Amino acid sequence: MDKMWAGRFSKALDKQADDFNSSIHFDSRMYKQDIAGSIAHCAMLGETGIITKEESSAIIDSLSEILEDIESGKLEIDMQAEDIHMFVEAELTKRIGDTGKKLHTARSRNDQVALDIRLYLRDEITQIKELIKKLIGSIVLQAEKNKSVIMPGYTHLQRAQPITFGHHLLAYAFMLCRDLDRLSDAAARMNYSPLGSCALAGTTYPTNRAMTAEKLGFDGVCENSIDGVSDRDFCIEIMSALSVTMMHLSRFSEEIILWSSWEFKFIELDDAYTTGSSIMPQKKNPDMAELVRGKTGRVYGDLFTLLTVLKGIPLAYNKDMQEDKEAIFDAVDTVKHCLEVFAPMIETMKAIPENMYKAAGKGFINATDLADYLVGKGLPFRSAYKIVGSIVARCIKDDAVLDELPLEVYKEYDSRFESDLYDSIKLEACVNRRISEGGTGLESVEKQIAIVKEKIK
Ligand code: ARG
Repeated sequence: MDKMWAGRFSKALDKQADDFNSSIHFDSRMYKQDIAGSIAHCAMLGETGIITKEESSAIIDSLSEILEDIESGKLEIDMQAEDIHMFVEAELTKRIGDTGKKLHTARSRNDQVALDIRLYLRDEITQIKELIKKLIGSIVLQAEKNKSVIMPGYTHLQRAQPITFGHHLLAYAFMLCRDLDRLSDAAARMNYSPLGSCALAGTTYPTNRAMTAEKLGFDGVCENSIDGVSDRDFCIEIMSALSVTMMHLSRFSEEIILWSSWEFKFIELDDAYTTGSSIMPQKKNPDMAELVRGKTGRVYGDLFTLLTVLKGIPLAYNKDMQEDKEAIFDAVDTVKHCLEVFAPMIETMKAIPENMYKAAGKGFINATDLADYLVGKGLPFRSAYKIVGSIVARCIKDDAVLDELPLEVYKEYDSRFESDLYDSIKLEACVNRRISEGGTGLESVEKQIAIVKEKIK
């Protein structure tokens, strides 16, 4: 295919160099945004008199047809084209001749591509936010079902204090709510139009940048044309936000993998979200969660690709910047895939309350509550803590548990122990007393559920 810029050259681009240079095989996915940008640009050219109204309408009509034809499958995007921008323009000129050649007046591919990525990411962020909300919805559903299911809460992966499974799950809902905020925040900062920056220096034509910005739903224009064409901060911000989301999904995955093991057996994943082994007939593997954990590394890699690509390039546009897209697309696709399987996997998993309860009951998970009991009888917390520490040490030595240690033994340590201590260290009591804001008690958990529901409304 003849290059649009062939005039300056005395021979054609080498075949391999041509393939190397071309980006159509990945940027073709931005055809919709590219055409939308061209339509807005062309409308502005007509309204400002840079081209005639008739020329403007002819171009817009043809661009709309091209879009329709691509969507209906009537027009196939030519993979020999250099990129999506060149393809659309060439197709336009093929259809309406010389008038089509006026579209690129007062524009460069540099501001065009910067615009396309912003429009593309704006659409993707909207979709990703919906998927995150769906996942939060699934978590809330499980949290409601399990708001009174007692499990061991861990620190250092050691049994720490009893909590409810619902409370634990809600922690992830709050993380994901922050992810929504982060994406909205990045999207708001991105929502400025680079169109009209042209190659880098602006233009001699009497363009109206505010007009194209408004037509395309931006909040304003990028105020420096050099920055307009060379800024990819928004890509980095969005990929950082996506990396944080993946980190959250990965932590959640890790717990799901642990909980599904025979050592824990706190949950059973639905058959639809697990796989078997080719050799071991008994296996039921949490592959989806493992893949999400693995793909987290991939999304981090995409973020680092972009940070590294950008760190050394001088202003303004450099072809290095074409490398942004595969990383962005990969991150966006990966996050969407992960969220799409994660939400139903969470929604269909089944808690096994007996196992959680058993695990919570075995250790000394109520030791803090025993200390609090003594505090209730007038002891300072540190002193109470020390006494309970000695009692726990004795239990470990004698293979006993706090709930079954006779009152006489307790009395050896402190005369303030009475028989009501046993009720106060029951797991249910430990959990239900913790109604501090954000705590694990039923009242607090119900408030948290309401807060999350409000956030995703
Ligand atoms: N395919 C190019 C990219 O993705 C479009 C911009 C080309 N600009 C240029 N001056 N060669 O970055």
